[in-house]
Amino acid sequence: MSENFIVIVNHLSVKFGEFYAVKDVSFFVKPGEIFGFLGANGAGKTTTIRVLCGLLTPTSGEVIIDSEHFISGKEHEIKQKVGYMSQRFTLYDDLSIDENLDFTASLRQIPFNIYSERKKRLFEFIGFNKNPKMIVSDLPSGQKQEIALVTSILHDPKIVFLDEPTAGVAPASRVKFWALAQQLAQLGKTIFVTTHYMDEAENCNRIALMRTGELIALDTPENLKKNTYQNQIYSLTPKDKKSQENLTARSNAYFSMFEPYGQHYHAIFKNTMNEADAITEISNLCHIKKIEPSLEDVFVKLVEGASR
Ligand SMILES: Nc1ncnc2c1ncn2[C@@H]1O[C@H](COP(=O)(O)OP(=O)(O)OP(=O)(O)O)[C@@H](O)[C@H]1O
Ligand SMILES: [Mg+2]
Repeated sequence: MSENFIVIVNHLSVKFGEFYAVKDVSFFVKPGEIFGFLGANGAGKTTTIRVLCGLLTPTSGEVIIDSEHFISGKEHEIKQKVGYMSQRFTLYDDLSIDENLDFTASLRQIPFNIYSERKKRLFEFIGFNKNPKMIVSDLPSGQKQEIALVTSILHDPKIVFLDEPTAGVAPASRVKFWALAQQLAQLGKTIFVTTHYMDEAENCNRIALMRTGELIALDTPENLKKNTYQNQIYSLTPKDKKSQENLTARSNAYFSMFEPYGQHYHAIFKNTMNEADAITEISNLCHIKKIEPSLEDVFVKLVEGASR
C-alpha cells in the first residue's frame, strides 16, 4: 500500500493535556495530488501539519511519509522530503529576499552551486523580476508568499505543506499562487494545503474536512457536493426589503436550509413541502433560481452546521 501513497496517517491523535487537538484521524495522500485540508479555526489542521513535518510528536498513531515511518532517528530523512510554509511565520521581514533564501539554503545544507541554480529557476518559476536585495517587508503580501513558497521548496522536497498560504492576500495574487501550486503538482510534487477560502478549495483533487480534531469527510470536491446534498438547492433573491423580512419570517416553516449569501439566500425546501406549490407561494417575494451546491455550502452544512 505504501507505494501508492506518499502520506499515510493511521489513527493519529495529538493531546495537549487532556484536550484532543487531533483525534483518531486516518487518511492517505496520493503522490502528485493537491490535497486540501479544511476546517474551522481550531479544527486541528496546523497541529496535523506539524506532526507530518516532524515538528511535533503525536500522542498516538502512525505516520508514514514516502515509505519512511516516523520513528526516532528517521526525522532527518523525512524532513528532507517535506517542505513547510507555516501559517504564521513565512519570512524574516527585516531581511532581504536573498538573505532569507541564503539562510534557508544554509539551514537545509544545500551546496552553493545547486542553491544558485535552483534559486534562479524558482525565481523564473514565480516570475520574480525585482531586485533580490529588497527587504521582504517592502514586498506586497502576494509576492511575499511566493518567495515563502520558494524557500519552502528550495531543498526540492517531494511534498509541500502550505498552511493558509493565501490568508490576507489580494484576490488576483491568490489566483496566481494557486496556479503555481497546480504547476508544482504537475511537476510531480504533492501539495498538502489548508485554506479558509472555499473558492480556492475547488482547485484541490481531494479534500479532507476536519471538525474539532476529527476527520468528518474526505472526497473529491465533486463527490462532496453530490453526497452532501441530495435535495435541490435554490438561490433566492428577495425583491425588496419588505419581501426579505417576509421571506425570513417564513424560513422556518418552508426550508430545511436557509443561509444568507450576500444579497441572496441558499435554501432547500423541507421534504414535507410540495416544492412546486411552495415556489408559487414565495414567488411574489423573491426571484428563485436552481443552483448546484458550492463547496461553501458543503462546508457550512458539515463543518459549521453541527456547531449551531
Ligand atoms: N501547543 C499547544 N498547546 C495547547 N493547545 C494547543 C497547542 N497548539 C494548538 N492547540 C489547540 O489545539 C486546537 C487545534 O489547533 P490548530 O492550530 O491545529 O487548529 P487549526 O485548524 O490550524 O486552526 P486555524 O484555522 O485557526 O489555523 C486549538 O484548540 C488550539 O488552541
Ligand atoms: Mg492553523
